[in-house]
Order: sequence, then structure tokens, then C-alpha cells
Amino acid sequence: MMIRKMPDIFSKPLPEHIAIILDGNGRWAKKRMMPRTFGHRKGAYNLKDIAILCDEIGIKELTVFAFSTENWNRPDEEVNFLMTEPVKEIRKYLDKIKESNIKISFIGRRTKIPKELLQLVLELEEITSDHKGLHLTICLDYGSRYEICEATKIIAEEVNRGKISVEEITPELIEKNLFTKDLKPLDLLIRTSGELRISNFLLWQLGYAELYFTKTLWPDFNKKELYKAISSFQQRERRHGGLKEEKK
Ligand code: IPE
Ligand code: IPE
Ligand code: MG
Repeated sequence: MMIRKMPDIFSKPLPEHIAIILDGNGRWAKKRMMPRTFGHRKGAYNLKDIAILCDEIGIKELTVFAFSTENWNRPDEEVNFLMTEPVKEIRKYLDKIKESNIKISFIGRRTKIPKELLQLVLELEEITSDHKGLHLTICLDYGSRYEICEATKIIAEEVNRGKISVEEITPELIEKNLFTKDLKPLDLLIRTSGELRISNFLLWQLGYAELYFTKTLWPDFNKKELYKAISSFQQRERRHGGLKEEKK
């Protein structure tokens, strides 16, 4: 059997902020002739493993797309599962989460999710608020267009009340009003499952992020896959519109 080496990711700087579109749970289950919910369960456990791994290797921020503003269009049974199952499951691990180093935040619309899930969201944020390790941001009922629209409303209101002038609207001001205002700039976006699209995720924040697409389905995305994505990122040259840095 051929043993493929894990890519070396520690001789170059790591991305500070990684985002992942967790995609492919349904297809993963279908391949096993199981219901889609089986894939979501496996996907949730995989998120736990990848978050712990990111924390261990020193990634500062991990932002994941867990449920989009468009995912409400799925069959009731699936939406219902996604809104209720994590509450039951995560509650079993609250003590472990509290003892861990990982800080958990949620971004997205908070008005539509069921109250038991909202209660859990608030509890997770509260019990991990002073944690100093990985900052895991879970995008729940999140849509980038919704986020930009909300930021626009806040800014329009400030103009209306005469707090700022139209000329004072800058990219920096818009950024300060996005849900991601406290996060570092996005370095690397990973999408699993082979889809080559963004599906309304972090449209503004992706401006200069490096993109990495893999055919691997989210429940199969493991340590080696993460290292491959990071290693690919480390080989890119980020110019931000400037020129390549000359070696002296
Ligand atoms: C991602 O997996 C999880 C969510 C969007 C909630 P999918 O459920 O989209 O899985 P596929 O893409 O149908 O395989
Ligand atoms: C994007 O995946 C949303 C999440 C991963 C939460 P989808 O499976 O919903 O995206 P599309 O429908 O393939 O674009
Ligand atoms: Mg999908």
C-alpha cells in the first residue's frame, strides 16, 4: 500500500482565517443509501473534529456555513431536523465545550430560528465568551445579501438621523456594519463537494481571499484534506492588486 505523506504546513505561515462551505452531506448519505439527515449528523461530528484540529494547529479563526437563508426552501422534514437535532446533540457536550479553548459565535438572522435553537446559540456564546483558542463562527440562517442589506439599513438610518453624511460612507464603514466586523480578513475559503460556486456566502469578505475547491464531500473532509488546502494556500502569491515582492 502506498503511504502518502501529510503535506508540511508548518514551515510557512498558516492562514489566520479560514472559511468553509460545508457541502455534500446529502450526497454522502445517498452514496450509502441512507437518509440525508444521516449525512447531516456525520457532517456535524466532522465539524467538531475539524474545529478541534484547527485549534490544535493554531488557526485563529474558522468560519463555517451551516445553514443559508435559502436552505429554508428544503423539505420541511430536513429543515426541521437541522433546526432541532443539533440542540439535542450539542446539549450533551456543553461541559466539554465549556472546558475547551474554543470560542463559539453565531452570525446570521436570529428572528426565524426556533427558540430552543436560539437559546442554545446564546448559551454557547456565553459559556465560551472568554475562551482564547480558535474562534469558531457558525453562519446560521446566514446569507451574504441579507448581511449587506442589514448593514445598508443601519448606515441609511445614520444618514437619516444626520449622524453621518453620504460622503462618509466608505468600504471601511460598510465593513464595520457587517456581521463579521470583529473577524480578521478572510485568507482562505474552502468549498467541499465539487460545487464551483459561492452560494451567497461572505460575498464582500471574499474580495481577496484565496479559493480552494475540493470534490471531497464534507463528512469525508479530514486532517489530510485540510492540510492539502492549507498547503495549496501557502503556495499562492497574494498581491492584493500590487506587484510581486522582489527578493533582495
Ligand atoms: C450541506 O450539505 C449542509 C447544508 C446545506 C445544511 P447538503 O445538505 O447541501 O448536501 P448536498 O449538497 O445535498 O449533498
Ligand atoms: C450552501 O450549500 C449552504 C451551506 C453549506 C450551508 P447549498 O447546498 O445550500 O448550496 P447550493 O444549493 O448547492 O448552491
Ligand atoms: Mg449542498
